[in-house]
Amino acid sequence: MTIRLVVLASGNGSNFQALVDASRDGRLDAEVVALVCNRSDAFVVERAASEGVPTSVIGPSAGESRPDFDARLAATVALATPDFVVLAGWMRMLSMAFLGCFPGRVVNLHPALPGEFPGTHAIERALAAGVGRTGVMVHYVPDEGMDDGPLIATAEVEILPDDTVESLSARVHACERDVLVSALQTLATTQNP
Ligand code: GAR
Repeated sequence: MTIRLVVLASGNGSNFQALVDASRDGRLDAEVVALVCNRSDAFVVERAASEGVPTSVIGPSAGESRPDFDARLAATVALATPDFVVLAGWMRMLSMAFLGCFPGRVVNLHPALPGEFPGTHAIERALAAGVGRTGVMVHYVPDEGMDDGPLIATAEVEILPDDTVESLSARVHACERDVLVSALQTLATTQNP
């Protein structure tokens, strides 16, 4: 059975694109049934329009609490009846008001290894730390921990002595796209609801 994915993204959307492409060329037994974005000017919104993926742009209203916004976000996502909700560059913390609506079905992509560099600018921070490797991970999001949860897939990326933010970012992003697609294919074959 083909799994239904709702992608939440905030920016460029290269990983959204990777999921759409893999779903359509047969590498991923999935359909990206909706994009939800919290910024109307994000490039991912243009990508979704080009690909014909239904899109909702939803941001917090003035004075709206995080739980109230998250409940409204969850209601929007639920309309698309996802098997899995994929956080692919979704740069906003989610509270249990959202996560509690999709137990065991929210997965997050992060450009670092488990327990390392949670939050924003993970690639830049890994380079600045002078370590020999960083990586990517895809994990379940059971609670409000940041970029933390039971692992689905991970891969290391070597940091070369002459790496710049640009060169390292290019390799990490290429790795992310592969790991994200293969992690979701694992879910499609083993966790098919
Ligand atoms: C990706 O590198 C993703 O791992 C990261 O945002 C980028 C989105 O790229 N997410 C996080 O840092 C989450 N803490 P994209 O918009 O091109 O898919």
